[in-house]
Amino acid sequence: MARHLITSAIPYINGIKHLGNLVGSQLPADLYARYLRGRGHEVLFLCATDEHGTPAELAAAKAGKPVDEFCREMYEVQAKIAEGFRLSFDHFGRSSSLQNRHLTQHFASQLAKNGMISEVTEQQMYSVADGRFLPDRYVEGTCPNCGYDNARGDQCDNCTKQLDPADLINPRSVISGSTELEMRETRHLHLRQSQMKEKLADWIDSKKDWPILTTSIAKKWLNDGDGLADRGITRDLAWGVPVQYEGAPWSGMEGKVFYVWFDAPIEYIACSQEWVDAGKGADWERWWRTDKGAEDVTYTQFMGKDNVPFHTLSFPSTIFGSGEPWKLVDYIKSFNYLNYDGGQFSTSRGRGVFQDQALSLLPADYWRWWLLSHAPESSDAEFTWENFQVSVNKDLADVLGNLVSRVTKFCRAKFGEVVPEGGVFGPQEEKLIAELETRIRAYEGFMDAREVRKSAAELRAIWVAGNEYLQSSAPWTVFKTDPVQAAAQTRVALNLIRLYAVLSRPFIPDAAASMMASVQSGDWSWPEDVAAALNVLPAGHGFTTPEVLFRKITDEERVDWQARFAGTRD
Ligand code: MF3
Ligand code: ZN
Repeated sequence: MARHLITSAIPYINGIKHLGNLVGSQLPADLYARYLRGRGHEVLFLCATDEHGTPAELAAAKAGKPVDEFCREMYEVQAKIAEGFRLSFDHFGRSSSLQNRHLTQHFASQLAKNGMISEVTEQQMYSVADGRFLPDRYVEGTCPNCGYDNARGDQCDNCTKQLDPADLINPRSVISGSTELEMRETRHLHLRQSQMKEKLADWIDSKKDWPILTTSIAKKWLNDGDGLADRGITRDLAWGVPVQYEGAPWSGMEGKVFYVWFDAPIEYIACSQEWVDAGKGADWERWWRTDKGAEDVTYTQFMGKDNVPFHTLSFPSTIFGSGEPWKLVDYIKSFNYLNYDGGQFSTSRGRGVFQDQALSLLPADYWRWWLLSHAPESSDAEFTWENFQVSVNKDLADVLGNLVSRVTKFCRAKFGEVVPEGGVFGPQEEKLIAELETRIRAYEGFMDAREVRKSAAELRAIWVAGNEYLQSSAPWTVFKTDPVQAAAQTRVALNLIRLYAVLSRPFIPDAAASMMASVQSGDWSWPEDVAAALNVLPAGHGFTTPEVLFRKITDEERVDWQARFAGTRD
């Protein structure tokens, strides 16, 4: 069995996220982790909150709380929501951990040792009205690349270009809105990532199997004139990893912290140390150090497209530049955006469904199914309530839920709540087995390739095959003339429920658990052989007829929800 390290981009601490954030990183990462565990592989699945930098400071200030207290509270909120969506992290860490502080400082020292860091005296934006230097996100203005007028000082949300505050046209202070900004002298550390250009280019070129979305963004910034320009990795902020630490190879950097995008990806590694320190694991180095066994690990990262430059250029520069044998990512799965009902999700306008609201409307599986089966892989995707209603009612209620309830109710009525005995497999069963064999292998192929939508479509086809079998074999009719044959058919159908629980678990874990419980089994073994899998529950084995697996969304609900989440302002 193989070993798989999986990380999801770590969400900012600054607020509750919308459904687009979920489907762009954490949810597909969870799908993949659950699938690999289901197939018996060893998996370490990590995520954390991204707590440093200006987003956290700004949000804490807005909430009127000290930033550490704000982060502690929001961490609990996000951890609870993650649990609500059944995200099966082996550890959900915090980038503000001591482990990450030490590891970030370690990387900085290593980079300095290898000549990858320069000390630069530079002109920085100073706000006269605010009486302070303004780092990245404290400045907004017009993007010099695309003209978007709400670009932030660190990155343009519209065209994904990484920016410096000084690049912005018509800059203004986020704190006061003041445009009375002037350039003053200050000293910062720069990461000399331009030194890495050739190495990065070769490395990205060697990744023939990566999604085009990932490589096209990476290559765009790699070949863009200043996409790989040396970048400041320190900021004038109080909250973050201190730059002036014990043994630091520089002096006079008091009052500065590392840039949030420098320490955040290092948290992927630090998180595994937190996992060990929390007593959940024994050894983190065998996952991360190629000199300690990690060369056998397959490492997959999941993220939205705006995160790609940081994961294909900046973080690998840190890893390469350290000169140490750290595990590099093997596969970067990136996603486009999820839009909401003809526009964008908007936190400030209250537009769209946010993660906590979603869970208050319907259980996790309903959202997981829709989001994953509509994952924005090849293009942006759009959430509409009509589409959500149709998917839930058809796929989950009519196809899967109906199969489970029909089979169990029919059996209970005719044979009692036990798997009936007698009869043998005939041509119809052979046909079902052949179709499932083909489809399950296709499903595995899509899952192995992290093709989320195709996996969902194949799983649905697997459910449909069961319904068609039931429809064409029609045990309720056969029962009248040949009850022994009807018993064999019902036995197959009851075994399908267990088989579907195993296959569906990565997508809809709660429903899968209910299905498994209803057939009173705990056998989650993967169907390497379909005929054998349809014989796991023997004649005489008990079952219980489950409550409704999935309920339908009514038209009234759809209309109500549509109005409720339409947003207040424009
Ligand atoms: N917090 C960032 C975002 O939500 C993602 C950080 S990913 C990491 O866009 F690599 F920095 F960890
Ligand atoms: Zn732009």
